[in-house]
Amino acid sequence: MRIRTLNDYTTAYRQSVENPENFWSNVAERFLWQKKWDKVLEWDFHDYKAEWFKGAKFNITENCLDRHLLNKADQVAIIWEPNDPSENEVELTYRQLHEKVCEFSNVLKSKGVQKGDRVCLYMPMVPELAIAMLACARVGAIHSIVFAGFSSSALADRINDAQAKVVITSDGNYRGNKNIPVKDVVDEALENCTSITSCIVLKRTEAKVTMQEGRDCWWHDEVSKAEKTCQAEVMDSEDPLFILYTSGSTGKPKGVVHHGGGYMVYSQYSFSNVFQYEEGDVYWCTADIGWITGHSYIVYGPLLAGATTVMFEGVPTFPDAGRFWEIVDKYKVNTFYTAPTAIRALQAKGLEFVNKYDLSSLRVLGTVGEPINEEAWDWYHEHIGKRRCPIVDTWWQTETGGIMISPLAGVTPTKPTYATLPLPGVQPVLLDQDGNELEGNNVQGNLCIKFPWPSMIRTTYGDHERCKQVYFSTYAGYYFTGDGCRRDEDGYYRILGRVDDVINVSGHRIGTAEVEDAINMNESVIESAVVGYPHEIKGQGIYAFVICDENSGKDNDTMLKEIIATVSRVIGPIAKPDKVLMVSGLPKTRSGKIMRRILRKIAEGATDQLGDTSTLIDPTVVEEIKEKAGV
Ligand code: PRX
Repeated sequence: MRIRTLNDYTTAYRQSVENPENFWSNVAERFLWQKKWDKVLEWDFHDYKAEWFKGAKFNITENCLDRHLLNKADQVAIIWEPNDPSENEVELTYRQLHEKVCEFSNVLKSKGVQKGDRVCLYMPMVPELAIAMLACARVGAIHSIVFAGFSSSALADRINDAQAKVVITSDGNYRGNKNIPVKDVVDEALENCTSITSCIVLKRTEAKVTMQEGRDCWWHDEVSKAEKTCQAEVMDSEDPLFILYTSGSTGKPKGVVHHGGGYMVYSQYSFSNVFQYEEGDVYWCTADIGWITGHSYIVYGPLLAGATTVMFEGVPTFPDAGRFWEIVDKYKVNTFYTAPTAIRALQAKGLEFVNKYDLSSLRVLGTVGEPINEEAWDWYHEHIGKRRCPIVDTWWQTETGGIMISPLAGVTPTKPTYATLPLPGVQPVLLDQDGNELEGNNVQGNLCIKFPWPSMIRTTYGDHERCKQVYFSTYAGYYFTGDGCRRDEDGYYRILGRVDDVINVSGHRIGTAEVEDAINMNESVIESAVVGYPHEIKGQGIYAFVICDENSGKDNDTMLKEIIATVSRVIGPIAKPDKVLMVSGLPKTRSGKIMRRILRKIAEGATDQLGDTSTLIDPTVVEEIKEKAGV
């Protein structure tokens, strides 16, 4: 199953298209199943469903852990590097991790957690996060991990949508020189969540917290009472494994649901092939487990492959901008996987932070989350990879569960800024506005996928109609990614970015409607429109055009501060606008629709490309906005 040469890739790709069921059944054979599937695949992209390995029985944690106890029990599974480099690291072998997961599975059971229950995790990047996640999977509960930078109201929305029974958190969270009172955020959220019966709190920072009698308990107390063995729950391949909330063009974030069997097969397959993982390698993905990258390529993919995976609690610039490279040197990391925004931020700090460290252990570099610009690609290649290491620019999404278009390290010839070729089993197509497939090379269109792959989204939690609507209605019979893409003369794919109202800020996906809703919650705001604009470090920044109540008596500066504070409170600091412009009107069509295209061009400073403004009710607002924006 392991692809080692371009020839292998071509053969595997051809087989995966000619006979997908046979192809994936051969890949899946290598996993531990208590019962094999009755059918490899059943699908329908019109009335959406995709079912993989239906009828198979298994538990993903037996594949991540128990399976490795035979011959790599004493190999390190997780290396944990704390936020503060003077604190000791933690290494957990497969045997130890297995025991801790079993122990915590028993804690979950003691809290009444059963198969199918939802458990929300709002935690720092500590080994206990991975342990809690795997324990959920072991007892058949569905984990819903919420990035610990989200606000209490964003957390409450997610808990309520999933109707989670238990929430797991910590007293506090170290991030760089900040000490964030995480438990307080949870307490505030839980004031509006009736489904939660227990809150399990990990002690991390010794911050003073209030423990609510009958609801809250300490992680260490519970674990000390728990048995160290726990039989894994027998799951069907199509039972849900997790929910992960992500932003779209409209409405509140939706809970993307992944089911266990297909996700397991694809996350390991893609991990092993893209990174060309070799036994004994030390692999490090710098993402947070609160995002899909952390789910698939810090925890599940690497552990399924029996790898050693590094987990880092902190940030790239603390104590200084050499931290990533210090960690690479310290653990002799072989594969390093990060986001373009981090590369650009570190590039800007200068080479002195890089050159202090020995990076000779590196063999493969990866990027994910947003398009990488050529300058950042070159810098990464030259100064981090020393021109020796292939860069895998991996394109994928929360919904795809795993990497879809990417070079296979050292196998696929790379080209800066190109995600290159689809993985076996992935059938991308480019469609024009009318839904015609663009044939041949040197074409550009909307990226869709025309055939199912094992780790694809199964539904949006509690609302299957929404899933059909968002992903399968733009182009009938296709999964629509929301990305624009070019296929060049070599058949290589280059992702151009979102074509919908989603912006990608430092690799984080943010819906413009979500930010607008948050801004509009400020009592002095009448209306707002949010667009993305090119940002040197973040890829895209958030630009908000806001109409304020003239009678509020607040000056621009006050409004600016208030709006930023409102967005932080409602969503979290990651969605804070970078620029706010007070305007007296927004460019609207006669039907009342805001013409974002015009605002985007103004935000970019490309006022010569405003296009046709004649359909606006009041074209003069455009002049006012241009003037205020100084473009
Ligand atoms: O626009 C694409 C961009 O990130 C979006 C998916 O975001 P999310 O679900 O948060 O998952 C991010 C991590 C997998 C995509 O629709 N994106 C992701 N990877 C790349 C990318 N854009 C260009 N190049 C990539 N390698």
